[in-house]
Amino acid sequence: MATPWQCLCLILILIISILCQASSIQLPSKNGARYLSIFWSSNRTLSVSPKYNYETKYFQQKLDHFSFTHLPSFRQRYLINTQYWLGPSRLGPIFLYCGNEGDIEWFAANTGFLWEIAPRFGAMVIFPEHRYYGESMPYGSKEEAYKNATTLSYLTAEQALADYAVLISELKRNLSAQACPVVLFGGSYGGMLAAWMRLKYPHISIGALASSAPILQFEDLVPPETFYNIVSNDFRRESTSCFRTIKESWDVINKVGQINGGLAQLTKTFHICRELESADSLTNWLESAYSYLAMANYPYPTDFLMPLPGNPIKEVCRKIDSLPDGASVLQRIFEGVSVYYNYTGKVNCFNLDDDPHGMSGWNWQACTEMIMPMASNRTTSMFPEFYYDPKSNEEQCLKDYHVKPRPTWITTEFGGHAFKSALKAFGSNIIFSNGLLDPWSGGSVLKDVSDTIVALITEKGAHHLDLRAATAEDPDWLLDQRSSEIKMIRDWLDEYYGEKKATFSM
Ligand SMILES: *[C@@H]1O[C@H](CO)[C@@H](O)[C@H](O)[C@H]1NC(C)=O
Ligand SMILES: *[C@@H]1O[C@H](CO)[C@@H](O)[C@H](O)[C@H]1NC(C)=O
Ligand SMILES: *[C@@H]1O[C@H](CO)[C@@H](O)[C@H](O)[C@H]1NC(C)=O
Ligand SMILES: *[C@@H]1O[C@H](CO)[C@@H](O)[C@H](O)[C@H]1NC(C)=O
Ligand SMILES: *[C@@H]1O[C@H](CO)[C@@H](O)[C@H](O)[C@H]1NC(C)=O
Repeated sequence: MATPWQCLCLILILIISILCQASSIQLPSKNGARYLSIFWSSNRTLSVSPKYNYETKYFQQKLDHFSFTHLPSFRQRYLINTQYWLGPSRLGPIFLYCGNEGDIEWFAANTGFLWEIAPRFGAMVIFPEHRYYGESMPYGSKEEAYKNATTLSYLTAEQALADYAVLISELKRNLSAQACPVVLFGGSYGGMLAAWMRLKYPHISIGALASSAPILQFEDLVPPETFYNIVSNDFRRESTSCFRTIKESWDVINKVGQINGGLAQLTKTFHICRELESADSLTNWLESAYSYLAMANYPYPTDFLMPLPGNPIKEVCRKIDSLPDGASVLQRIFEGVSVYYNYTGKVNCFNLDDDPHGMSGWNWQACTEMIMPMASNRTTSMFPEFYYDPKSNEEQCLKDYHVKPRPTWITTEFGGHAFKSALKAFGSNIIFSNGLLDPWSGGSVLKDVSDTIVALITEKGAHHLDLRAATAEDPDWLLDQRSSEIKMIRDWLDEYYGEKKATFSM
């Protein structure tokens, strides 16, 4: 039997939840940072055999580069190809991709640009894997590595950068290739790592191509609404009625969710496998689709996260807009989102519990260092309104991981405030490439910082499109972006060789 106190609590909870729903304010616990972790969420593509030739090797790494504590070392995986390398005597360059939050083979398969340009530079290609991802697990297994906040505490960007620095230095020593120039590459979080590595270890590389790297998505460096505003604008530019339909849909979903039998009705309309427990889970599922669509809004069909048509947002909006006049908002939304979740037409029902954003290394990183404030402003965004609330984010992280976020650590460690003047004075040779349709572009560098720290933007590009393999359908603006990148890398190398020559002849 429930005690009177328990009953009172239940009633209070009921009242509170009704009040919350009535005002349709979402709990401010959203963390858009999860969308950066676009990669590991898909292990589907891993079954695809690697397209490129490489050897898989392992290197014994220190678990903690920044202390002399006695800790077990771990095996870091790296992929390497020396087929086109000019070798040490001719100072053959080394192209190093800074592995990000996922299986390194997956990045290797999806970074065709690097493989395609390596032969013409006579470059060695190396893809080291980020610690705590793929096979590079400390403590011998993922289960052990992800056990608790203590075992996870070595999963940081600084440790990962130190791994790359140690690995490349030793590899060069082993090959007597100390004088060979290293060029860094990376996309998304990997692009952040490439840029940071260039800044923190200027002696290790001669330059970095940081594609779609939101290194300014911290603290108040950009407004927290930026990400969702860009997603919203991607839809608005295709069709204002599509934008409006999506914007209206949240209230409709909430209202239907509250009526008797409403959740069953939503479950049926959206072909969800198991009956919805709340309207919120449907809302989250739709928000994810729109955000990923904006990131993967590529000009040709891709199978990156999901099989998608070219210009997928245009296709979503075409569906939403093309239903006959009498069609309901929910019917339109269902048709639209099916472009994302069911483009193949092979999905029997949608499984919302199949949430790829569960326990993961990225969630740990997003609860410790990668604190990227996100909000949605009702006047400019098509998403439900919500505010960034550091307090509730902290509570969530304490609950999930027993860890307290350090929201100002990234800018303390890597910079961000007064970014331009600092980089102008102390940095060089970084390309920040971005496609403006990519919601992460808003947190990246979109203007040249100096002659050698440059922003390469494309209006119609999405998330690190430039790093993907060339296709017959590549538009001219993409070809131009890639040739600018190639030219700049060539310039860095020429300058490096020029200086070497001058030193030799002295
Ligand atoms: C991902 O991998 C796990 C384990 O290998 C598997 O059970 C799961 O079905 C995979 N998910 C997808 C979406 O392929
Ligand atoms: C975390 O797990 C390790 C290994 O099992 C254990 O030694 C350690 O005491 C645990 N730490 C906490 C805080 O639970
Ligand atoms: C360098 O050589 C040593 C000795 O042969 C080997 O143990 C180590 O794994 C090598 N390191 C790399 C990065 O190749
Ligand atoms: C996926 O598309 C196919 C073909 O249009 C359709 O028959 C099927 O019902 C769709 N699945 C879902 C879950 O809506
Ligand atoms: C939303 O955007 C409008 C217009 O840019 C601005 O005036 C308002 O303060 C913003 N609201 C919030 C909650 O940030």
